[in-house]
Amino acid sequence: MKRLIFLAACLSLAAGLMPSLSRADEGPATLPFREDVGNLPSAQRGARDFMAYCSGCHAMKYLRYNRMAKDLDIPDDLLKSRLMLGTDKLGDPISSSMPVKQAEAWFGRAPPDLTLETKARGSAWVYSYLQSFYLDDKRPLGVNNPYLPGVSMPAVLGELQGWQKLETPAKGEEDDTPKFELVQAGTMSPEEYKEFVADLTNFMAYASEPGKSDRIALGFRVILYLLVLLVLTYFLKKEFWRDIH
Ligand code: HEC
Repeated sequence: MKRLIFLAACLSLAAGLMPSLSRADEGPATLPFREDVGNLPSAQRGARDFMAYCSGCHAMKYLRYNRMAKDLDIPDDLLKSRLMLGTDKLGDPISSSMPVKQAEAWFGRAPPDLTLETKARGSAWVYSYLQSFYLDDKRPLGVNNPYLPGVSMPAVLGELQGWQKLETPAKGEEDDTPKFELVQAGTMSPEEYKEFVADLTNFMAYASEPGKSDRIALGFRVILYLLVLLVLTYFLKKEFWRDIH
């Protein structure tokens, strides 16, 4: 019996520690990325940057402005003046000003809604994708991306990141993450740009599951409670059996 309980405890611990399996997409390996949705300043910066650089084309229709403001601790006046561009109703979903028909005509494909993007592709994929636009004369927009070959999204962050060329991988190279050579520096250093993309990805990860940091905090409290209960029951058991042995 004891052995069984021990085995069950080990199994549940192992299941808890196992990283959630992200759906591996076809395509090159992604850069390592650790989501940090509990990091409020990072998610706030990501929200600001998403509204400034992405919401012109992409909506997040499953997330409302007031829910975002509450979760990320953004005051209403700041929300209205800086983040809400297309509407003045706090309860509206995050929309994009891009009309779908025109977007299809301009880009060949309407920019998809990004609320669930990190769930669909994995946050490491999004983090890698946003760093991997490279110059390609064969494409109508002059850029391509190994994570979405033939991409129809313009390199909207090119000014910040700078412009880069794709390097051909050396033969027999084990590591198949694409490598680039910066040919024109952007307004940000490579480290600053990485941070910028990490903030954006963190914000998108928050958007895909707004309750996640609460869920993790609750999980820790539940486990702590169970551990305390385990100690108590152990002593209780000893107490019960004392006279019998
Ligand atoms: C000028 C319009 C435009 C802007 C601005 C823009 N995008 Fe896009 N984005 C697109 C289009 C169009 C696609 C579809 C690309 C395709 O499928 O080839 C796309 C695709 C994507 C995808 C991949 C979706 C998928 O899974 O297929 C991600 C992720 C993404 N955009 C993130 C962003 C982020 C983050 C920003 C802001 C930094 C941004 N985009 C700004 C037009 C835009």
